[in-house]
Amino acid sequence: MEFSQGLISAAYILAALLFIFSLSGLSKQQTAETGNWYGIVGMAIALIATIADPRVGNVWMIIVIMIVGATIGLKLAQKVEMTQMPELVAILHSFVGLAAVLVGFNSYFEMHHSVIVNITDSQQMATNIHLVEVFLGVFIGAVTFTGSIVAFGKLRGLINSAALMLPHRHKLNLAAGVVSFILMIMFVKQGGGDSTLYLLTFIALAFGWHLVASIGGADMPVVVSMLNSYSGWAAAAAGFMLNNDLLIVTGALVGSSGAILSYIMCKAMNRSFISVIAGGFGTDVVIDNDTDYGDHVETTAEAVADMLNGAKSVIITPGYGMAVAQAQYPVYKLTQALKDKGVDVRFAIHPVAGRLPGHMNVLLAEAKVPYDIVLGMEEINDDFAKTDVVLVIGANDTVNPAAAEDPTSPIAGMPVLEVWHAKNVVVFKRSMSTGYAGVQNPLFFKDNSQMLFGDAKDSVEAIFKAL
Ligand code: TAP
Repeated sequence: MEFSQGLISAAYILAALLFIFSLSGLSKQQTAETGNWYGIVGMAIALIATIADPRVGNVWMIIVIMIVGATIGLKLAQKVEMTQMPELVAILHSFVGLAAVLVGFNSYFEMHHSVIVNITDSQQMATNIHLVEVFLGVFIGAVTFTGSIVAFGKLRGLINSAALMLPHRHKLNLAAGVVSFILMIMFVKQGGGDSTLYLLTFIALAFGWHLVASIGGADMPVVVSMLNSYSGWAAAAAGFMLNNDLLIVTGALVGSSGAILSYIMCKAMNRSFISVIAGGFGTDVVIDNDTDYGDHVETTAEAVADMLNGAKSVIITPGYGMAVAQAQYPVYKLTQALKDKGVDVRFAIHPVAGRLPGHMNVLLAEAKVPYDIVLGMEEINDDFAKTDVVLVIGANDTVNPAAAEDPTSPIAGMPVLEVWHAKNVVVFKRSMSTGYAGVQNPLFFKDNSQMLFGDAKDSVEAIFKAL
């Protein structure tokens, strides 16, 4: 079945609209499922219209490749845990980057090998534009490719998550940018050039690698969303080279939504957006975990149940540990039991709690916790002082007072949930080890804090039983 160009354009416009509806739906929990459906339908329409384009040569080859890709994708999606989602996203971005590089090379060699004689001014202009498209597509794609591979390696624990501190690293980044720009001018002026393109590819691959390698663990959430944005721009560049309007629109949507998300996350973590794009930001601070904060106090599930029995207000701050333990279901049961006793129970969600923005909201929604008692950091931070008990379930960096009180801390300036203002704080974790950012948490040693050691799910179930 072949579509006319008019029909294909109409299908592309419809798909683009559905992608916009999808993004808008995904911005709220209540509408996220519908948003997902818009995206699925939009993508199905886009794929059918692309395959039905009369310019497509071998439809069967595309279908076979799609089946192979879809099977691998389905298997991965079934296997991956929610906590591994950033890794999956990172490796998928690397494919987008690699695809843009390959499209760039293909597009360049196709054009370069077709000899045009007596070229007119407008043809020359079109050739120059095409060369710039190829250059930018290969550059952004190569940076995204290696950057995403490093991000994947760091998140997986295959590469040391600490920041790589090469001497003059910022100058190296700047030099890579300047040399690439000069190469682009040469490339266009000379009407192409295989060796220039190879050199650019090499520099961009090294630049992408270095950009992400020089960023430390605590800033990885922003890096993943930044790579998401880069992958969108890489797709848009591929769209220009392939003359495919839908790819341009979709790439721009991904690129700009990724950039907006990076900006929001930078604000949430009090980081400068510009220095994120430049790479290696905020990592000049050396982690010092030798400070002696005194002793911590241990508690038991029974004692926590007693404390909760006497409480009027409780705030639960979940973190990555709740996700690992899958403790959201017993947490919901505990919440219900406390609410039945007339206790005011609410949840406080930090914007980067867990391993991806919205991670905690999704887990709590999965366990049927009502949305109206799940509040964002800004909505609830002033209420801790009026709260009897705070249960910190598997959270660490997001409740670290050092961010607010210690200007030398690597997470200094990052807004945190100020749980230490409450009357009592109970911290659920398995040991005294640090959180994702690798910094010690003085909260554990405060007079109003007690540690409840053990797997978060077991601890919550034990408290529920004791209640
Ligand atoms: P974290 O600071 O990572 O702390 C999680 C805590 O959970 C750890 O202290 C750990 O202590 C505990 N834990 C782990 N498994 C547990 C279990 N089964 N039962 C009980 N406790 C358990 O988490 P957070 O407060 O949610 O902060 C999020 C951090 O991740 C921030 O630094 C943020 O920047 C970063 N982040 C990274 C990404 C990406 S893309 N990588 C995305 C968003 C956020 P024990 O080991 O002692 O149990």
